[in-house]
Amino acid sequence: FLSAADLNPYAAGQLLDLADAFVELNRQSSKGVEILRGHTVVNLFFENSTRTSSSFEIAAKRLGADVVSMPVQASSVAKGETLIDTAVTLNAMRPDILVVRHSASGAAALLSQKVGCAVVNAGDGRHEHPTQALLDLLSLRRAFGDVGGLTVAICGDVAHSRVARSNVALLSMMGARVRLIGPPTLVPGDADRWGCEVFHDMREGLSGCDVVMMLRLQLERMTGSLAPSTREYFRFYGLDREKLAWAKPGARVMHPGPMNRGVEIDSDVADDLSVSLIQDQVEMGVAARMAVLAALAEKREGDTP
Ligand code: CP
Repeated sequence: FLSAADLNPYAAGQLLDLADAFVELNRQSSKGVEILRGHTVVNLFFENSTRTSSSFEIAAKRLGADVVSMPVQASSVAKGETLIDTAVTLNAMRPDILVVRHSASGAAALLSQKVGCAVVNAGDGRHEHPTQALLDLLSLRRAFGDVGGLTVAICGDVAHSRVARSNVALLSMMGARVRLIGPPTLVPGDADRWGCEVFHDMREGLSGCDVVMMLRLQLERMTGSLAPSTREYFRFYGLDREKLAWAKPGARVMHPGPMNRGVEIDSDVADDLSVSLIQDQVEMGVAARMAVLAALAEKREGDTP
């Protein structure tokens, strides 16, 4: 599962139905089910992660899999072993699923050509983060009932955001209208070809929106001169009560995390559970990843001669 484009509306709907069932199961008990008993899942994170790495680990364990979470800093990567050599080495141990995060766009796709197991893209550079888009869709479906017809504004540092790219693909596929809002320096020049309306003014872009999805300002991916002052950024693009009031009454707020409070979002909005879906997104992450792992394991069994 490398890209949101690997799905179609039917497949996405099937995954969401399965994930929905896992949400209810997880709420009843943390014991899980044994769907992946006898399967091995390897988590290989070359970039930092809290939500994605831990939720993949919990998801795999709840499904009964054997899980190896590789501490990359303590692995032979620190001695100079390449991404490909690392993956090929792990592949020789015959895992069933490799979950990979890497700073290079296309890393997961490249790996998938070198190994015999299933590969899940847990975020590759600024390219894609398909399981994040799936969990976001699940959160929206549970909050609104249906995603079709919703207007979703994705706001902030679109240029560096794999979350934005995967969400644009998946939300559009499921019938939502997607807007992109951000300063001209942080919205890619070709964004109008993504099938979205582009706005540089928060008031205009948020008007009439059902959902406001804030993005983290990814200062670590910017060279010094491109990085905006965080105070000025918050003034124009940070979501606070005043800006949120431009969206539809009852609009819900999302953020994939980690949040920069006071930079792209005000704590007053982020922590208000009557508008914020941020903690729901974290909960949905476990269920959505359980659905992805279960579906991949089932597909592999179907493929085995
Ligand atoms: N949303 C997300 O990918 O968070 P982490 O970087 O903590 O995994």
